[in-house]
Amino acid sequence: MTILVTGGAGFIGSNFIIDWISKNDEKVVNVDSLTYAGNLQNLKTVESNSNYLFVKQNILNKKEISHLLITHKPRYIINFAAESHVDRSIHSPDEFIQTNILGTYSLLEVIRNFWMSMAVDAKNDFRFLHVSTDEVYGSLDSTEKPFTELNRYKPNSPYSASKASSDHLVRAYYKTYGLPVLTTNCSNNYGPFQFPEKLIPLVIYNAITGKDIPIYGDGKQIRDWLYVTDHCSAIRKVLREGKVGDIYNIGGLNEIANIDIVGLLCEILDEAIPKANGKSYKSQIIFVQDRLGHDTRYAIDASKIKNNLNWHPLETFETGITKTVNWYLQNQDWVKDITSGEYRSWVEKNYS
Ligand code: NAD
Ligand code: DAU
Repeated sequence: MTILVTGGAGFIGSNFIIDWISKNDEKVVNVDSLTYAGNLQNLKTVESNSNYLFVKQNILNKKEISHLLITHKPRYIINFAAESHVDRSIHSPDEFIQTNILGTYSLLEVIRNFWMSMAVDAKNDFRFLHVSTDEVYGSLDSTEKPFTELNRYKPNSPYSASKASSDHLVRAYYKTYGLPVLTTNCSNNYGPFQFPEKLIPLVIYNAITGKDIPIYGDGKQIRDWLYVTDHCSAIRKVLREGKVGDIYNIGGLNEIANIDIVGLLCEILDEAIPKANGKSYKSQIIFVQDRLGHDTRYAIDASKIKNNLNWHPLETFETGITKTVNWYLQNQDWVKDITSGEYRSWVEKNYS
């Protein structure tokens, strides 16, 4: 048996593949176009495994993706491929429309043709799981209840609008053609292999390299944080036990304000590698211009996946964040490799 993962060289996709290979004796085909966010170093531990195959390909390439499906006949396809950084979508929405909307549409078309040609048993067992985000539901104020699967879609950034659009296409392929799809909407992930443009790895990197630690606006915005391997276990659960056509919200029950996360990271680093001048890393914090259209609060009601599929996260925020900081401290070469020319020009563009 075989599964096919798109975007498997990114943060969550690579964690998913590593976990999948450690738990299953099943071939994994990783299809990734290797944008700035795709990094094959993430997959070093599995690259020589006979169950692992990497194919550099864009999900927009219908002909080649179709060829891959016919060749490998996957029973599951998990779509992680996306442009994923909100700030980049504000500077340059085009790639987000291309990959997140047209790329998902392109995949759906190719998969529909492949699925139609399958024998009945294989057709019934096939699943396409689309990995989406809680940002499609928009922003909550401090008094509103966490997002359930019934919340209206109200995306506020080009990124979340492109993800919302892709979710609608996935739904339409289920309703119209009966394609066996599943959609997951997850909160903010953190953990190993996250590109240091995102808050947690950026703070760790900037702190230990003596740079400013930028907080947007007043830093009071709230996110719900989930350790990445818990997201991967939820996806495995939904693939195996989820009801075809359904949406599952995934979250960590860890609502924390940005300023508190940054303070906590500084305190952990103060203990782990005290600054030579005796000051706290908090002395590097600066408040910068707010993100345009910055969502105030995300919170996930994960009762559906908990009650229907018996899924719950294994990591607390305390255990997850400690693991994460340790991983970044022990893998500074990984970060050094990434913070190349392209990364530096992004930092100049976003923070100047
Ligand atoms: P990422 O940016 O780290 O990785 C994205 C991967 O997709 C990269 O390897 C990139 O090379 C690949 N890719 C981009 N465009 C492609 C294309 N056209 N064809 C093939 N490959 C392409 O993203 P991530 O943080 O790992 O997120 C993965 C998925 O999970 C995304 O769909 C994102 O919307 C969703 N998500 C992320 C989070 C989070 O906190 N990071 C939370 C919820 C949902
Ligand atoms: O909620 C799920 C989403 O979480 C995913 O769909 C996205 O792919 C993922 O990038 C993430 O989006 P956010 O915008 O919430 O994550 P980010 O790490 O960019 O920012 C987290 C919060 O920290 C947000 O409120 C903005 C703030 N921030 C971020 C950066 C990079 C800062 O204050 N300073 C920074 O330098």
